[in-house]
Amino acid sequence: MKDATGYTRESEILYEGSDIPGLGFKPETVPCFLTTAFVMDSLSEVQEVTKQKGYTYIRTNNPNRTILGQAISYLEGGESSLIFSSGMGAITTTLIALLAPGDHVICNADIYGETFETMTKVMGKMSVNVEFMDLNDLAAVQKAIRPETKMIYTEVISNPTLTLADLKALAAMIHAAGGLLMVDNTFTTPLAIRPLDFGADLVMNSLTKFLNGHSDAMGGSITAGGELIDKIKAFSMLCGTPGDPFSSWLIYRGLHTVELRVPKQMATAAKLAKALQANAHVTMVNHPSLPDYPQRELADAMFMDKGCSAMLSFTVGEDMEKIDRFMKELHFAHYAPTLGGIRTSLSHPVTSSHYNVPDEIRRQRGITPGMIRVSVGVENADDLIKDFMQALEIFN
Ligand SMILES: Cc1ncc(COP(=O)(O)O)c(C=O)c1O
Repeated sequence: MKDATGYTRESEILYEGSDIPGLGFKPETVPCFLTTAFVMDSLSEVQEVTKQKGYTYIRTNNPNRTILGQAISYLEGGESSLIFSSGMGAITTTLIALLAPGDHVICNADIYGETFETMTKVMGKMSVNVEFMDLNDLAAVQKAIRPETKMIYTEVISNPTLTLADLKALAAMIHAAGGLLMVDNTFTTPLAIRPLDFGADLVMNSLTKFLNGHSDAMGGSITAGGELIDKIKAFSMLCGTPGDPFSSWLIYRGLHTVELRVPKQMATAAKLAKALQANAHVTMVNHPSLPDYPQRELADAMFMDKGCSAMLSFTVGEDMEKIDRFMKELHFAHYAPTLGGIRTSLSHPVTSSHYNVPDEIRRQRGITPGMIRVSVGVENADDLIKDFMQALEIFN
């Protein structure tokens, strides 16, 4: 993919944000600004720095956050980005900033567990009325929109069944009603899709996952137009949710190799999905690259050329003892309650992310005790496939 300069994103991401104004010297890479404040020599300087929205106190502004924000804006193709302490910090602060008592929000029913809790518990306390719906039923969504509807909230693809949301259609509906579309791009990343290109007003990423990629820092981002960003920033200051400099520095460092990591992870996920689908012990595989993916046409229209996601899920028989042995048998993939790292990790939705969802509802969504979710890392694709195939032998 080429940006406006005609150079590729692969090259430009290495330089994005690296120019730090006013530093006086030019380090080859961005240093970590571990300082709670910046010194000002006079009251007139204080006034000037404040007017310029410059560097004063750590919670207000920090160069590592600014620089990381610039790089995320570049990747998402957005005007401006804010960096938060976590993905949840980004989501919760944004909803508090933009919604008010009496507002109505339409939220995808198939959503990350803690986002669901923010929608019910935090928004509930604010008297915001959140309606959870199957966003694939576009006619029902249209019908549910009313004058108080201020936002539609969704992830690009749902966890763990990888169901796609039609962002263009949702954006058109909510814009006609004067509301906003907010999209979580964590599972897909801006390497696969830029939701703003499909009409989203706000894009969120948990930087804890693929964009950092090294499983060693927590952060979140919101990318949007300047006016929205100013509103959210004011609340981030009050909620105390801006990202800390060291995490921002680590994530910026991780981001430099995002073009090397994530396209490879997405391509390997597609190969692994194909191999799993051909294995007799596997009853179902969910990945948007598969020819029989139920939303094939929509996926083709939405994802860019580098792939669709490094996440996949598959289903084996509901035999917990065998699933236990399968997990132990794997050489590379290991259970870890996270995703997006350079090492392949697994999760078991029924005992983790979907533990509190009633079995009947889980099954309606295709989530059975035999389902395993995989976050594909940067291991050699053939090694990974070989490993999964040998471990699946225990189901013989
Ligand atoms: C899809 C999705 N959104 C948001 C979050 C929250 O991100 P964080 O853990 O950085 O707060 C997660 C965390 O796993 C996630 O998977």
